[in-house]
Amino acid sequence: MRRRAQRNAMISRARRPGVYLAVVAMVLTMVAAPAAASPASADAAHGWAGHDHRAGHGKRAPLRRLVPKGFRIGSAVAGGGHHADQDYPPPFPNDRRYRHVLAKEFNSVTPENQLKWEFVHPERHTYDFGPADAIVRSARRDHQAVRGHVLMWHSQNPAWLEEGDFTPRELRRILREHIFTVVGRYRGRIHQWEVANEIFTDGDDPELRTDQNIWLRELGPGIIADAFRWAHQADPNAKLFLNDYAIEGVNPKSTAYYELAQELLADGVPIHGIGVQGHLDFQYGFDHSMQDNLQRFDDLGLATAVTEVDVRFFLPEDGVPTDEQLAQQADWYRWMLEACLNVDGCRSFTVWGFPDRYSWVPHFFEGQGAATIMWDDFTPKPAYHALQATLADARKAHRRH
Ligand code: G3I
Repeated sequence: MRRRAQRNAMISRARRPGVYLAVVAMVLTMVAAPAAASPASADAAHGWAGHDHRAGHGKRAPLRRLVPKGFRIGSAVAGGGHHADQDYPPPFPNDRRYRHVLAKEFNSVTPENQLKWEFVHPERHTYDFGPADAIVRSARRDHQAVRGHVLMWHSQNPAWLEEGDFTPRELRRILREHIFTVVGRYRGRIHQWEVANEIFTDGDDPELRTDQNIWLRELGPGIIADAFRWAHQADPNAKLFLNDYAIEGVNPKSTAYYELAQELLADGVPIHGIGVQGHLDFQYGFDHSMQDNLQRFDDLGLATAVTEVDVRFFLPEDGVPTDEQLAQQADWYRWMLEACLNVDGCRSFTVWGFPDRYSWVPHFFEGQGAATIMWDDFTPKPAYHALQATLADARKAHRRH
């Protein structure tokens, strides 16, 4: 395991310009065989054919084959956002091995950036659906559900919108048109939408992000209900979600959502679920009230989902996670999945990308990384095996009932 981790760290270091040439030959020697493999032989190299246990996949079926009936195990689909500045081309359209693993392991996908405003609506009167269409098409072919991410957010909005100096009336029209256009286009093909993302501030006294979120600032909190209503009109069968980070456990921020959800439901707003993102970090500990938290939303009649899971930590000097770190990370992935599986209406668990080299984490948190379930050569980390075992157990228990 340590050897594989070292190779991972070497690949990451190799992407720094200064050391690129020095290590590229060595890395090529180590990864050349699987990287050059044809799709058929790549199967064997990953162990999916069941004969090669180097990768460890061979011991059990891929994740999507282990889920209890009706459960979705998903991943973000890498592209846009932080990928844009990297020394690799956009992963989804270009990396065949990546697409192969995505199809093999997951029965749900979430475009990581491709449906965000800056991506899909780059100019006032221009939509760019190409990348999202490609994801939705391939998901259909691979029998994967698609989660739509996102309709109303304070981040990754295009300059024309943020700096446009629009009147409230114009902004309302812009949001309504965007929702009808985007949700309408994927009617019947995107089954869940994150309508309002990260609308509360962090801390002990969360408030709506009125300063940062253009919609809340310019149109007031009533726009949340309108966004849900418009999305519902655009696709009456899509399930509509609130979504945020740091709301895994019972805490002031998740309670703010709990109260908002109660208000929206009381007003007859078509809200169907809440997504807890699951971006965890060792330094903040694991909140074991996660299941209770999901359960209280379930008791309101809402679906719950874990939508963007990764577990980050500070890497040692050599960039190689220790076995203890990997074991703790595996526990945390497992605990999150168990919390979800133990709540009736929690039917979907999505990891925020794989492998580590495509993760957003090192770009946001200096010194941290290794947050995903796969090494850079797509072989599984202990966290992957933890998900595998947890799903297998849940499936057995499900069958007994
Ligand atoms: O827009 C700037 C551009 O002006 C600048 O030149 C460039 C320089 O690096 O950065 C651009 O910003 C990038 C941004 O995406 C916009 O495309 C950031 O660097 C880049 O790090 C950012 O990454 C995305 C991030 O959302 C933005 O918040 C990640 O790819 C994406 O994985 C991440 O996903 C979010 C979920 O949507 C919501 N929940 C949290 C999750 C992790 O942050």
